[in-house]
Amino acid sequence: MNMNHPASIQYPFPNDDGESERLGVQGAFFAPLSGGFLDLAGIGGSMRVLDIGCGTGEVTRLVADRLDENGMVVGIDQDTGRLQQAREITRTTPAKCRVTFEHCDLTKVASLGEFDAVVGRMLLLYIDDPVATLSSLQLVLKPNGILAIQEPDHSNYLVTMPESPLFATWRDRLMQTCQACNLRLNSGLHLRSWMERAGYEVTLVHLSERQDCGPDSTVYEVLARAVLGLRSKMLDNKVIGSADEAPADLANQLRKDAVQHQRTVFSSKLIGVVGRRS
Ligand SMILES: C[S@@+](CC[C@H](N)C(=O)[O-])C[C@H]1O[C@@H](n2cnc3c(N)ncnc32)[C@H](O)[C@@H]1O
Repeated sequence: MNMNHPASIQYPFPNDDGESERLGVQGAFFAPLSGGFLDLAGIGGSMRVLDIGCGTGEVTRLVADRLDENGMVVGIDQDTGRLQQAREITRTTPAKCRVTFEHCDLTKVASLGEFDAVVGRMLLLYIDDPVATLSSLQLVLKPNGILAIQEPDHSNYLVTMPESPLFATWRDRLMQTCQACNLRLNSGLHLRSWMERAGYEVTLVHLSERQDCGPDSTVYEVLARAVLGLRSKMLDNKVIGSADEAPADLANQLRKDAVQHQRTVFSSKLIGVVGRRS
């Protein structure tokens, strides 16, 4: 048991269509940051790649875009609904390489064969023992294989310039809820050290972030969907008193507030680390 983090973590978002939609909106928002990271990590050509905790396949498709007809990518997740959604989206946007999705827990990856690279995004914040998890991935990596993971640093999450009471209220409520769910909110800040402790040679650390403004940004939707996805956890943990406090039109409220006061909105930073299996 990790003494700094004793309680077991459960994925806090519901296993429903709303969560699949949230991952789609978030995936499109972070796609430029993750695509750039995959390029720096050297993902491409005819590699065999495993995407762990793939959700609706947002990162899986970014990998597929970079592979040729001899490459292949396998996305795995514990949730069948999100995998079904991943298969459907991928069918309508075919790639050059083979793309498959498997229902598989992270602890069972050894049966999937050997890969040139393992990638993952926004997963370790929901995992009980990240070092053991990263270490076990050596079982599926070829010698010299690449591990390329991106995790968030939520230090500036929902910060705005000039600062907004509305955004600040939701930042505090989200942070309280995530803490009550024992999430590793700043997993990105630990990632390099976790990878080294898991036995990888770290070859690259990459920081990326977005700063958004104006009416057309999708940042308001990304933030509001996170709030709405965690609404029942907020109620369970008495962070809000009733569901009405997290209104369905929160994205529009955030947009209006930001546009009216010409605010810049900072979302989470993504910290990407690339390691090599020795
Ligand atoms: C925040 S989502 C990120 C999805 C995707 N990587 C992305 O960036 O869009 C985290 C995903 O990890 C999956 N997950 C969490 N724990 C897992 C485990 N032990 N085994 C497999 N998947 C897991 C969840 O079901 C969820 O779909």
